[in-house]
Amino acid sequence: MSVPGREVAPIRVALLGSGGSIGRQAVDVLIGLGPAVRVVAVATGRQADLLEAQARRLRPEVVALPGDPAAAARLDLPAGTRVEAGPDALVTLATRPDVDLVVVATGGTVSLLPILAALEAGKVVATANKETLVAGGHLVMPLARRLAGSVAARTPTDPLASPLAWLRPIDSEHSAIWQSLAGESPAGVARLILTASGGPFLDATPDELAAATPERALRHPTWSMGAKITIDSATLANKGLEVVEAHWLYDVGYDAIDVVIHPQSVVHSAVLFVDGSLKAQLGTPDMRLPIQYAVTYPSRYPSPAAPPDLLATARLDFRAPDPVRFPALRIARDAGRIGSRATTALIAADEVAVGRFLDGSLDFPGIARTLEAAVQRFGDGADQAPDVDELIALDADVRATYATGSPVR
Ligand SMILES: NC(=O)c1ccc[n+]([C@@H]2O[C@H](COP(=O)([O-])OP(=O)(O)OC[C@H]3O[C@@H](n4cnc5c(N)ncnc54)[C@H](OP(=O)(O)O)[C@@H]3O)[C@@H](O)[C@H]2O)c1
Repeated sequence: MSVPGREVAPIRVALLGSGGSIGRQAVDVLIGLGPAVRVVAVATGRQADLLEAQARRLRPEVVALPGDPAAAARLDLPAGTRVEAGPDALVTLATRPDVDLVVVATGGTVSLLPILAALEAGKVVATANKETLVAGGHLVMPLARRLAGSVAARTPTDPLASPLAWLRPIDSEHSAIWQSLAGESPAGVARLILTASGGPFLDATPDELAAATPERALRHPTWSMGAKITIDSATLANKGLEVVEAHWLYDVGYDAIDVVIHPQSVVHSAVLFVDGSLKAQLGTPDMRLPIQYAVTYPSRYPSPAAPPDLLATARLDFRAPDPVRFPALRIARDAGRIGSRATTALIAADEVAVGRFLDGSLDFPGIARTLEAAVQRFGDGADQAPDVDELIALDADVRATYATGSPVR
């Protein structure tokens, strides 16, 4: 097997969610890496034409289109590429014996089972997806720690002796923290500092927020992303999810994770160490860089992302987030403190509320109201570490409650 981190043979990749914003950029990165990478398996939800085009470019062994079985059966694929059908297609792709690394670019929790199965099978997982960690961090991280522990027992200095080498973050903030932590001991970490652009409504009044339209909310000032995460950036729910994600990835308590608004999106996040030293990673807002770093770690290769130009940037501004106009950040942090039932309720409600905002059946402040209501109503309970089945059932309950247009309560 070719283990990413010891590149002697091509890294063999399965890409889940190839049709989205991250997925399409991942395809470009994987092609750009040339012979260092071999893409073995590709899946997207429903975009049959795009999947056919990607299959022609990548020549994978297998593709899957789980969101449209009829279109999957009619796919026009190059010789040597076949379709994997059935409800477990993503798990099958992620656990193939010829896959070393699984790139996860799907939204929501659709990749929870494939990620768990991939780690169980000893694959490296590089994930842009944050919802899986927010809901299932208690299930995912122990597997990454177990894999790292077995390497550390043999060769403690191996790059794969760290859980982050097995569960690699692609989210730019978490990649920045990961890169800032390189060569550091966990005992030296004092605080994590996540930066946020502040989104399109950074200086909006409460009245303007109440009247915010989807069109305006989708106009992100610095990043070009999928619709769901762009709305999450506008409410700051995205930053709240990232606080929970950081808690799981870096094993740091909620009181030691700060959020700072940084409108230029040049400083992608930072780590404060116990001696007062602050390390940050800087870059242009281009996801191709963190995608590539997660694939090639610990090596660095030239990337298509333009480097930051400090002279052109000229100034870097920082300010505190406003908890009154953007309550979703506090609601997500509170949910994280309660536990994984609460965060599962949070992300299920968020997906529904964002969908309803986009279809015009919920106003912008209604997104945060829905999150608060869902965490209060469904997040309670002694068992804050649900198993996979409980988590999936809870997710479905929350969606059914808020998707119907029922009043938020
Ligand atoms: N976009 C960014 O810059 C960015 C940055 C940091 C983190 N993230 C995170 O990355 C994840 C993806 O974000 P995105 O913006 O790329 O979302 P997106 O544009 O909505 O793409 C998600 C993709 O997942 C695919 N998908 C859905 N169900 C699937 C299934 N059952 N099997 C295979 N593929 C399936 C969809 O395929 P079809 O379109 O074919 O239906 C879609 O193309 C999210 O968790 C987000 O928070 C994104």
